[in-house]
Order: sequence, then C-alpha cells, then structure tokens
Amino acid sequence: MPSPSSTQEFMVFHGTVIHSLSPSDLEINENAVVVVNVATGKIVLMERKVDKLNEFLSGLSLLENKQYNVNVLKKDQFILPGFIDTHAHAPQFSYAATGMDLPLLDWLDTYTFPKEAEYAESEHAQNVYSKVVDRFLSCGTTTCSWFATIHLEASKILTDVIEEKGQRAYIGKVNMDQNSPDYYIEKTESSVSDTRTFIEYVQAKNNELLTPIITPRFAISCTSPLLKALGDLAKEYQVPIQSHLCENVAEIEFTQSLFPNSVNYTAVYDDHGLLNDKTIMAHCVHMTEDELKLIKEREAGVSHCPNSNFNLQSGVADIRHYLDLDIKCSLGTDVAGGFATSILDAMRSAFTASNTIGILKSQYGNRSPKPYKALDAKELIYLATLGGAKVVGMEDKIGNFKVGKDFDALVVDASDNGPVRLFRHDGAWETLQKFLFTGDERCLSHVYVRGRRVAGWKQ
Ligand code: GUN
Ligand code: FE
Repeated sequence: MPSPSSTQEFMVFHGTVIHSLSPSDLEINENAVVVVNVATGKIVLMERKVDKLNEFLSGLSLLENKQYNVNVLKKDQFILPGFIDTHAHAPQFSYAATGMDLPLLDWLDTYTFPKEAEYAESEHAQNVYSKVVDRFLSCGTTTCSWFATIHLEASKILTDVIEEKGQRAYIGKVNMDQNSPDYYIEKTESSVSDTRTFIEYVQAKNNELLTPIITPRFAISCTSPLLKALGDLAKEYQVPIQSHLCENVAEIEFTQSLFPNSVNYTAVYDDHGLLNDKTIMAHCVHMTEDELKLIKEREAGVSHCPNSNFNLQSGVADIRHYLDLDIKCSLGTDVAGGFATSILDAMRSAFTASNTIGILKSQYGNRSPKPYKALDAKELIYLATLGGAKVVGMEDKIGNFKVGKDFDALVVDASDNGPVRLFRHDGAWETLQKFLFTGDERCLSHVYVRGRRVAGWKQ
C-alpha cells in the first residue's frame, strides 16, 4: 500500500474505516470502501458496507478505464483520520523531556528562552526542525499548529522543512517585545515588520497545506501596541491567531497587573482584536465563567494540553465543561511543556486529566448527585481528529472521511508486530481502544496527507 505509482489515478481502500461525526458519534464501518483521487488527494467515494468488493468496484463508473490499486485491510488493520495537534513548539523539541522541575514562568526563564535563543543559528534550526517534523509525522500528526521562535530566518526554515516533508500546518513566528531576556527579545516595529514578511513568505508559496498564523507568545511578553498591531495584521491578511491563555495562576496574576484596563486575561486578547473564530488558545486551565462565555461568543477554539499541564503543575482543564458549553476543543502536545510528541499520548493524558477532575470533585468538592462524566474513548478520538479540524477552521477539509474532504489518514495495524496484543474476543471497537491506550507509531503502517504518503512504519 505504498505511495501511488505515477500512472495510478485512484487509491481504493477496503476494510475497517473509523471516524467521528460528532463528539459522541464515532462511526465504525467494518467493510467500507474509500476511494481517493490521487491527483487531488480528495476522497471521492465512501461506501459504508461492501461485501462483494470486485462486484462493487466493477459497477463503479468512476473507476471505468481508470488506473487504480486496491488495498484490502486485514482484520487487525483499520483507517483513522490523521491526528491534529493544535499546539506545539517546534524549537522546544531539542530539550523535550528534560527540565520539568519548575512551574511555567520559571521554566520559561530557566530552560525555554535560552534554548529558543539558539535559533538565531540557521544550521541548528535546520537540524532540529527536520527531526521534529519527521517525528510528528511518524506519530501520525498530519496537521499541526506550530510555534517557531522570534527569528524570521528560522521561521522560514521551519516552513521550508514542513513543506518538503508534506505536513499540513499552521506556522507562527513568535512575537515578544517585553518581559523577556535581553538576549531573546524584539523591538516592537521589527516584530511587526518581520511578522508581515513571514506571512508574505508563507503565502507566496501558494501551498494549500501551509498557513501563517499570528503568534503573540502570550500577553506577558507583548506590549499593548504590539498586540494591537498583530490584531490588525490578522485582519489585514485574514490569517489565524494562536497564543497561550490562563495556563497558570502566577501567569494570570502577572497578566492582570500588566493590563489593568482589561476585565480579565481573555479580554486582553479580545481588546486587541486577537480573539475570533480563527483563534486557538492553548491551555485555558483556569477560566472564569465570564471568560468561557467570551471564548464561546467569539467562537475561538481551545487547545487542551494535559501532558504539559501536569508536568508544569499548571492545573487540570475541565474539558467536559467546555464541551457542555459547546466550545470548540482539541488536543495539543505542547512540546516541550509536554514531553510527548504523539497525540495518542495527548488522548491518554486528557483521559487522566478528565478522571482527575471527577476524582477531585467527588473527593473534596461539591458532591453533586450526578457523577462527573469523564471523557471517553469516542470523545478522545473526536478531540484528536474532527475537534482539531474545527479548532483550526478546516472541518470542511479534514477531520473525517466525508466525500470531498482531503485524504489525511492513518493506516493502523494493531497486529502482534507492534505493541498491541489482540485476542479472539476483540472486535473493531476493542481494537481501536487498545490502539488508543497501548499503541504507538509502530502501529502506523502508512500516514497520508492529502493522499500523499508522508510517513509510516511499513516500507
Ligand atoms: N506560555 C508562554 N510561552 C509558553 C511556552 O513556551 N510553553 C508553555 N507551555 N506556555 C507558555
Ligand atoms: Fe505552549
């Protein structure tokens, strides 16, 4: 099932196809057929139940006189939509899994800023960026919203690397013009002009997979004039916005002292034109009901980064509550606040986080008669795929296998060759859960972005 040959016009998959239609509606089609147009990378047909494959295919006018190959999935294999990571820091991969002994603001000063400053060196950027994008693709992350650093050149390098490797991505040059060390800070004007140059650099590629994203690091590291200018740029170029919000209590207090004219932290972004339906806010751990209302009103999305929230002792975000409020939610690895590069880990950490909230509520809090409903496996898959697609504003393009969407997909193999062990009672639903909780990249035979194979364990 490798990359299509140059003459091949369609790829046909037959077997178990699993995707989300909503947070609670996970569709498992055990005998489905998916047909992908190789030239466009789009799904042109999805039939939920096909028992007689040859008969079905020969009756399709779509494939008449066309070159195509048929990939029949084995019993322990299935297809899932590609994973969407809505928050990761590419430069932080170089020190991921080290230095997690400090809370956020000290962690930034001690570990993050010195390491990010190294990206003034293009060679270093090329090396780390090449490795981190390879790693994310091999983990099945077909779409990622990346933070780079303040450096224009290195941000361009990250863009070039992502383009070459074929990932779908939002890429942000980071902005910082205050409360940052002397060796890692920008002047307001150059921060804005470099951001403009970067946006135009990405847009000039005319690559539908690549989108520049406005990336104020967080309110603490940006002056009000910078935030305002970035809000204006987002509007002028119609590009998305990403930042951090309500991650840690000390961060929130510092932010409120810096922006006394805004009613709360969320309002700081809103007051500078940075909160809209194209905004991704990472963490959102300590949100007041007023702030959640504002997020919902502006139709901004949340990137839940539970691994990071545990490591930096930031807190536990109540994603169940946000979903109940109909706020768009998704998952982020937040490398290197998070030590793990895989969205499988983010799903597991989100599960633990959700159970933690339930436990805390029943152990210490207001014991409501209704037990807390922690996120379940269906919802975790949703957050990793269709939920992510909504947060990045691409639900018409990716997130599940609806006809007309791009084929961003994982061919999962849960057989004994990898870490998962299946037994005779395991059907497709059990296989999916075992993959979710015990699988890893060795289970990913093939990773496709828009029909192009970009990674995979199988040669
Ligand atoms: N807040 C501002 N910068 C960062 C960062 O790099 N990581 C995390 N987790 N939070 C931040
Ligand atoms: Fe982050």
